[in-house]
Amino acid sequence: MPAHNSSAADVPVPDSSAPEAESDNPLDTSALGVPGLRTAGLNAADLNAAGSDASCHDASAGLDTAGLDTAVLDAPPLDASVLGRPAPGRAEEVRPVPFAPRPVPLSPTLAVNEALARKRSEGATVLPLGFGEAGVPVHPALARELAAAADRGAYGPVAGSEELRAAAASYWTRRGAPTVPDSVVCGPGSKPLLYALLASIGGDVVVPAPSWVSYAAQASLLGGEPLHVATAPGEGGVPSPALLADAVVRARARGRSVRSVIVTLPDNPTGTLASEETVRRLCAVARDLDLVIVSDEIYRDLVHDPTRAVHSPARFAPERTVVTTALSKSLAAGGWRLGVARLPDGPFGRALRDSLLGVASEVWSSAPAPMQHAAAYALAEPPELVEHVDRSRRLHAAVAGAVAERFAAAGARVRRPEAAFYVYPDFGPLREALRAGHGVRTAADLTGLLLDRYGVGVLPGSAFGDAPDALRMRVAPSLLYGRDDEERLAALASPDPAALPWIAGALDRLGEVLADLVETVGEPALA
Ligand SMILES: Cc1ncc(COP(=O)(O)O)c(C=O)c1O
Repeated sequence: MPAHNSSAADVPVPDSSAPEAESDNPLDTSALGVPGLRTAGLNAADLNAAGSDASCHDASAGLDTAGLDTAVLDAPPLDASVLGRPAPGRAEEVRPVPFAPRPVPLSPTLAVNEALARKRSEGATVLPLGFGEAGVPVHPALARELAAAADRGAYGPVAGSEELRAAAASYWTRRGAPTVPDSVVCGPGSKPLLYALLASIGGDVVVPAPSWVSYAAQASLLGGEPLHVATAPGEGGVPSPALLADAVVRARARGRSVRSVIVTLPDNPTGTLASEETVRRLCAVARDLDLVIVSDEIYRDLVHDPTRAVHSPARFAPERTVVTTALSKSLAAGGWRLGVARLPDGPFGRALRDSLLGVASEVWSSAPAPMQHAAAYALAEPPELVEHVDRSRRLHAAVAGAVAERFAAAGARVRRPEAAFYVYPDFGPLREALRAGHGVRTAADLTGLLLDRYGVGVLPGSAFGDAPDALRMRVAPSLLYGRDDEERLAALASPDPAALPWIAGALDRLGEVLADLVETVGEPALA
């Protein structure tokens, strides 16, 4: 694996136009050790099948001849070693695999974590601000529910248990989107659910720019083209409706089949929540252009101002909106891997559900049964969990707000975060000083410098589809809440968490690093 740092992390999207490894190419005959064997039409898959399939019917060679050209049929019988079985008396031989797997880079959010872990193991002081994890302990009542269901070892229904689907339906109904259990499908996290949904919907996908790293990567993995459409300032997560219309019309004019648009409400990476007006206009454009809307609402319960409404496209375009959420963020159970999707009513929604269940049945069969039980308890929203989510929301607001202030003090342009645990500062106003002092031209240069010189792990905006020369970065402060659960619980309980010594210390360090970065042009860095 290449050394991952944030400068290597700005290439999250595999090139879907590249040929898919060499596995479709005819094998190099020299690799088979059979001079003169022509292999047109014979590829690695054929050989593997021939070598392992008990139904092979050419008794002399054990090779199914279907698909081989006549020159092959006329050739002398193959030596059994061609099929991976050494001839009697010959030593086992190790043969290098003659093709490369498809290159798929590690998700940048995970990569920055690994780079920081390496730095830490080398004894460096690090500030982990790259990974979007909730950073608070799992509530003990939730853990008890999980433990109580640990003996559920059987596979369950592909869509999820009735208990879970009913609880998820009630969760969405309480949020103004009446839902029946039949409209709910669960999976091992919302990430695989999103992937399966994109596989079912097919075609190209519009993703906001910037947006969570995995949307574009998933679209590319599926052979589609991610179309990045910019979001308006303060309206993160929703592609600007006017630009959306233009981008889709142009893509279709060049023969692309654009079928869906993803929105994130509220947004990762900007930490903002799009307005009702923007969501309404997005829905109108989606309807005009026959687009399915995938609304990722995983941060919905973490809007810092609890009185502020989240306007879901499920309200304005119910016939074409799929909503996803999970336990990962508001309940800090990302490692449990449990997500749910709400499919639209009507003929399209039912067909999409069938297709999604087909994909799910072939990929994960059913989500883990003990997790489903715990998720059913969580989505029913018992008071102790509601209180836990409230406290985490306050903690995220306090620390993300304090981090934003440090960036503002250093001269970056930054909005006060409105949701979740993300800050998205823009060093545009300091472009000249950063170029002159540090040779910084791109966001990846800047985040690479922060990592290498100061041990600060953040992600460049380019990892989220932002323009590479826009000096923006995503900062995720939630791993500062504590080094162990005792500190994290204290942070959750504190009326002023940013003043706790371990959080205040990290904020001070961040302030010093930023001051050094922008003020000390060419001078030695902080120790
Ligand atoms: C916007 C967004 N959607 C989905 C996910 C993935 O969540 P899950 O843990 O449910 O797969 C993340 C995780 O970082 C995210 O930020």
